[in-house]
Amino acid sequence: MAAKRYTVTAALPYANGPLHIGHIAGAYLPADIYVRYLRAVGSDVAFICGSDEHGAAITMQARKEETTPQAIVDKYHAMNRDAFAQFGIDFSIYHRTSSELHHQTASDFFLKLYEKGKFEKINSEQYFDPEAKQFLADRYIIGTCPKCGYDSAYGDQCEKCGSTLSPQDLINPRSTLSGATPALKPTSHWFLPLNEYETWLREWIIDRHKSDWKPNVYGQCKSWIEGGLQPRAMTRDLNWGVKVPLPDAEGKVLYVWLDAPIGYISATKQWAQDNNKDWKNYWCDADTQLIHFIGKDNIVFHCIIFPIILHAHGGFVLPTNVPANEFLNLEGRKISTSRNWAVWLHEYLRDFADKQDELRYVLCSIAPEAKDSEFTWKDYQARVNNELVAVFGNFVNRALVLTQKYFDNKVPACHELTDDDREVLKQVAAFPQAIARSIEEFRFREALAELMNLARVGNKYLADNEPWKVIKEDPDRVATVLYISLQIVANLAILCEPFLPFTARKLEGMLNLEPSLWAAAGSVKLLTAGSALGEAKLLYQKTEDDIIQTQVEKLNATNTADSAAASAATLPVAADKATITFDEFSKMDIRTGTITAAEKVPDTDKLLKLTVDLGSEQRTVVSGIAAYHSAEQVIGQKVSLLVNLAPRKIKGIESKGMILMAENADGVLNFVSPGNGSENGSTIR
Ligand code: 2FM
Ligand code: ZN
Repeated sequence: MAAKRYTVTAALPYANGPLHIGHIAGAYLPADIYVRYLRAVGSDVAFICGSDEHGAAITMQARKEETTPQAIVDKYHAMNRDAFAQFGIDFSIYHRTSSELHHQTASDFFLKLYEKGKFEKINSEQYFDPEAKQFLADRYIIGTCPKCGYDSAYGDQCEKCGSTLSPQDLINPRSTLSGATPALKPTSHWFLPLNEYETWLREWIIDRHKSDWKPNVYGQCKSWIEGGLQPRAMTRDLNWGVKVPLPDAEGKVLYVWLDAPIGYISATKQWAQDNNKDWKNYWCDADTQLIHFIGKDNIVFHCIIFPIILHAHGGFVLPTNVPANEFLNLEGRKISTSRNWAVWLHEYLRDFADKQDELRYVLCSIAPEAKDSEFTWKDYQARVNNELVAVFGNFVNRALVLTQKYFDNKVPACHELTDDDREVLKQVAAFPQAIARSIEEFRFREALAELMNLARVGNKYLADNEPWKVIKEDPDRVATVLYISLQIVANLAILCEPFLPFTARKLEGMLNLEPSLWAAAGSVKLLTAGSALGEAKLLYQKTEDDIIQTQVEKLNATNTADSAAASAATLPVAADKATITFDEFSKMDIRTGTITAAEKVPDTDKLLKLTVDLGSEQRTVVSGIAAYHSAEQVIGQKVSLLVNLAPRKIKGIESKGMILMAENADGVLNFVSPGNGSENGSTIR
């Protein structure tokens, strides 16, 4: 690939919680692989990301943690920035949308569109929560679906019957912020009439990107365009965000789509300032390729809304490609942050110190490139042990240890080549291009599989030539075999860098090899005969059963408590369950109780050990609510307890029963609390 200029963006994660493996496999790892490759071929790349620090998601989290939105974004910005860095996601900059520069950039963007007459101001009535004293986003209103009667449909959609709704369609609407009945209140907003851009979009996407955009991305765009585009509000009523820069806009901020994606531009400005560059080269020059890495939930915004904004503004390049991934599931279920059904990146980094490449390897191997895929700990173990350890690590180790043993840890000389040697050299020479092609076309799984094939070529070469058997009678032959093997290791060091950067650094140390550009790979003269090697160390260790077992138990333990909440909550998840008979329901013995003692379970973030007074007895229950309720707060709390749930050991504590919790749309867990009249031990039925 000829060196070019690229602006590569990765979706700005909301700074309202930690990152999990679904985020990584969906957007950040493929983006990082792509960028590392581009840098290796000598391209000029701005790799842009940062925290999305605005929106109701942040204010909700602040409520949940009983703190301010600023404290929330400060906390999660630092946490996510550090986790990305530790995992080797090598952004040019990890910026923040709360920065002054971003506010100015987004505000100017809005004004430019406003002055160009690109908005329509529309008056409407919207639901207002009289207790929380704020307008409610559609998702924060639930009520009864007018189509199917489901009592917890969202303001924009009924997840039971699938109908698209508007909040005013809901019967008996309730605010998820306070539980209050919201009232309609007049408001006005600036809308971008997406419908006016339909012809332009058809020509740009449907006609021009059929073959170079991924089918999942192209298909979603096409169906949106063909389904008819509607005007979209670009502002909203909220006190946290970029203020609408107009005199008649008190209490209004820019909506996420005029905020977060512009965060890519403001981050580029900051990076350019810090590095003596001109940001415009990365956004306004027709030779720049703009690539957005995102998950599938953001396709419409990056392929339709943001390009319309850029086009309406004028002077910006449009995305060349948007290689969105589908979703990663975990152990047979959707990842759920609220139910703690997730493998958190910061926890992985803590529990698996120095094993970044193991997770990078597994997540790239199973990335949901074309359809949803699944992570399981067993599969993680199998891929690490059977592929990284047994193939890649084993080959590298054998080549290095044999060199140490027979040639004093120096690259031996290459003597006469056999036909087989020549065949292997030919094969090696073909790898860089094959891997490059897959990466350039966003097929990272295929690219990684090719890389492993190179290690397999090396392994087979060593096994076929058995240097350990020939060393006595033909040391020159062994020298040649190890010379070639070491050159393959050097090729691996270059070609693995985008995928396994920590491995690449280790290999460079063991080979005494300077980091090289991609163009150097394919050669079998990367190491000079006679040059000294560094110390050979094992690249990877086997992951033993007990490590995997601990992770599975951790997942199940935190989830057991939280799934109690899920089953008690009036969420769509519950609606999807099969109908049960009254007899089945009657098998559950649910009683009222009061929490009399509470303490945090050591070494966990989510678990509380609770003592519940049931009148006739005191029960110990482990509950996954620590993220929402502190031990001090819950003492005296009246609860509903499923008392005949089979006891189970969680973190060594026998938990007898499950406290029922209601989970709102944002994952906040609230106690399902009996009224004051009920004595401890009363039966709930
Ligand atoms: O969906 C999200 O996670 C939002 N924070 C927006 C991400 S895309 C953006 F950065 F443009
Ligand atoms: Zn419905």
